[in-house]
Amino acid sequence: MNKRVCIIGAGPSGLAQLRAFQQAEKKGKQIPEIVCYEKQDNWGGLWNYNWRTGIDDAGNPCHGSMYRYLWSNGPKEGLEFSDYTFKEHFGKEIPSYPPREVLFDYIEGRLAKTNFRNKIRFNTIVRDVKYIAEKKKFSVISRDAESDTEKTEIFDNVIVASGHFSTPNTPYYEGFEKFNGRILHAHDFRDAREFVNKNILILGTSYSAEDIGSQCWKYGCKSVTVAHRTAPMGFNWPDNWREVPALVKVEDKTAYFKDGLSIKVDAIILCTGYKHHFPFLPDDLRLKTANRLAASDLYKGVVWNRNTQLFYLGMQDQWYTFNMFDAQAWYVRDIILGDISLPAKVEMEQDVLDRQAAEDALEDDYACIACQGAYTAELIKATDYPSFDVEAANQAFYRWKKHKKKGIMTFRDHGGFVSPMDKSISPSHHKIWSEELDDSKETYLK
Ligand SMILES: Cc1cc2nc3c(=O)[nH]c(=O)nc-3n(C[C@H](O)[C@H](O)[C@H](O)COP(=O)(O)OP(=O)(O)OC[C@H]3O[C@@H](n4cnc5c(N)ncnc54)[C@H](O)[C@@H]3O)c2cc1C
Ligand SMILES: NC(=O)c1ccc[n+]([C@@H]2O[C@H](COP(=O)([O-])OP(=O)(O)OC[C@H]3O[C@@H](n4cnc5c(N)ncnc54)[C@H](OP(=O)(O)O)[C@@H]3O)[C@@H](O)[C@H]2O)c1
Repeated sequence: MNKRVCIIGAGPSGLAQLRAFQQAEKKGKQIPEIVCYEKQDNWGGLWNYNWRTGIDDAGNPCHGSMYRYLWSNGPKEGLEFSDYTFKEHFGKEIPSYPPREVLFDYIEGRLAKTNFRNKIRFNTIVRDVKYIAEKKKFSVISRDAESDTEKTEIFDNVIVASGHFSTPNTPYYEGFEKFNGRILHAHDFRDAREFVNKNILILGTSYSAEDIGSQCWKYGCKSVTVAHRTAPMGFNWPDNWREVPALVKVEDKTAYFKDGLSIKVDAIILCTGYKHHFPFLPDDLRLKTANRLAASDLYKGVVWNRNTQLFYLGMQDQWYTFNMFDAQAWYVRDIILGDISLPAKVEMEQDVLDRQAAEDALEDDYACIACQGAYTAELIKATDYPSFDVEAANQAFYRWKKHKKKGIMTFRDHGGFVSPMDKSISPSHHKIWSEELDDSKETYLK
């Protein structure tokens, strides 16, 4: 095997790809030469907490969107690796909503035991990728921030694993330029204690809105107002939390909403989502898609159907995460190793259209979860990734959704989730989430 493979990003998706090759090598297969470029100084992607915001020390946009005190927003039973369980890593059963530091520890655990970290070039950003048609290869330009030097290298395959929750979508509303307070996007939110005793306005109604609002509430903000463009979240919120119709404009510190209501706020947090953004890719290789289950132009959700030497991992909207990235990485690995062959272009295009039509017909979140579970299972079936009880993972998500409906500030207090991998049962955390201000690994695992 004299192929060279480039992986862009060492977050959970890029690490899944390294793990897939490592497992093949362990089974005696010849694997290609792999170079994984990572612009940060450590692996883990978003789970590698970065206190910086804006521009990083090398002059590049900060990747980090995670904040202090973040706990998993879904049960860990939905994201568990099937080849490396939580119980195997921590040596015991742990509760179902681990804080960021605990999940970081788990993510790095299985690779830290191998020598595959050596395949990652840290502090090295990929700046430009081009396809050289006559050679059927890619040229990849990267810049090493430590030596401040640029390098061009040639690869047979490129796997884009650079994430899609780091380039903020920042809508403008009338009066923003004159607002006498802080306006920030969720991407730049770091510590809820900044908003103690403040009245905050949140735009957006998805996971960032729900979780950042909940963090601010937990750490003592005065009030949370969430404005919806489409529909309210509709949870049973605490007394100092309200949902209001869309924002119309702000004047000084007063926000005006569509129903005529106006209130004074100290800060505005835009929880308005992210953009798929690949500044290092030219148009013929660049994924342009909405944040949806069936991303555009990706056969089986991973193969760039206009050039099948290029792959993308983790570009879907995500219910399933780590084990879906594994399924994708194993599938991509087997295409590269020649163990899976691809159909004609027209069939690959039809695959995307079929998946998108099926997604458009889904009626609710439960159906979306089942759909992504089925997609994950479909990829696993084609590889030697250890299969697991996907229905049990679906059930964990359904149970989570019911708990949220019952109590949005108490759903993380539930134990009793069943691992789809080893059937172990999760305990409850020793303190309820709303009173647990310490999110350290030591405290969580106590
Ligand atoms: C605030 C927040 C909370 C979340 N919470 C959860 C949760 O509780 N549970 C869950 O399952 N999922 C959660 N997610 C979803 C998250 O997308 C996944 O868990 C996971 O991090 C995605 O992994 P990834 O490797 O695809 O992308 P990322 O984690 O974004 O990693 C991409 C990596 O690529 C690197 N990179 C980017 N561009 C370049 C370049 N040009 N050159 C070199 N390197 C580059 C980055 O530095 C980064 O390390 C959350 C997302 C956000 C934003
Ligand atoms: N603790 C955690 O684990 C945690 C915390 C935060 C985020 N996350 C993860 O982060 C990822 C991203 O979530 P996200 O909530 O940031 O993004 P998202 O799910 O894409 O949601 C974007 C939100 O922004 C709204 N919006 C977009 N444009 C708008 C505009 N012009 N005006 C007003 N509202 C607008 C959308 O409203 P419409 O419905 O009207 O389109 C939607 O509610 C998810 O995978 C999530 O699981 C996890």
